[in-house]
Amino acid sequence: MMSSLLNRNQFPVCPRPEGDPCWVAWRATNRVQALGERMRAAYAGSDYSLSAHGTSVGDLSVVIAGQVWGKELSTDAAELIRHAGFLHDIGKTLVASEIRLATHVFDADERLEMETHVRHGAEMLREADAPAEIIAAALRHHTWFNGGGYPGDGPRGEAIPVTARIVHIADYYIANVEIRPYRPQPLSHASVLADMREQFEAGRFDPVLFAAFLECVETQAVAATEGVKR
Ligand SMILES: [Fe+2]
Ligand SMILES: [Fe+2]
Repeated sequence: MMSSLLNRNQFPVCPRPEGDPCWVAWRATNRVQALGERMRAAYAGSDYSLSAHGTSVGDLSVVIAGQVWGKELSTDAAELIRHAGFLHDIGKTLVASEIRLATHVFDADERLEMETHVRHGAEMLREADAPAEIIAAALRHHTWFNGGGYPGDGPRGEAIPVTARIVHIADYYIANVEIRPYRPQPLSHASVLADMREQFEAGRFDPVLFAAFLECVETQAVAATEGVKR
């Protein structure tokens, strides 16, 4: 039973953005809204909505964080994690439109081009003076807990910022139960979970956070995200 892995003595440290000048300044701006507009514009005319994807990933990331930290998760920390989830794919807005809006499965070169979105996103968020935890989620949400994935030049395990480790799990689930530009039909909740368990065994997800995600699933907290269409 995966949830037996949820050992509360091994919990990651909960983010504490309160009082962080960067977070305070970030919250005082409307940059999240402006970046959301940018996501909507980049996919205008497409059946796929990057901003809806970001919203779903942000929502699920907060659900997972709530499962992990409970009352320890402050309103500000939840908001920080929601922003990290919402903005994780912002770099896709800088990927060439023929790749970004492609309705076919990528070949190897196209896949490499799409993978640049993590660096583009981190750079955009750095320029927007986003908090480090939000930048980290953009840069590391395709980095495996064992150090695999991409961009492939960085940390592994608990050295990967916790926001990125949470968003990685939420993004993987949401990306597979919603439509994609190249996949008009979402996969089933059950098949995605079976795949995620295999991915976990291969070293992809943080064990504590993945166990928390599964607890959310088991307690129906994730049911509302099943069959996300946009
Ligand atoms: Fe991504
Ligand atoms: Fe994503």
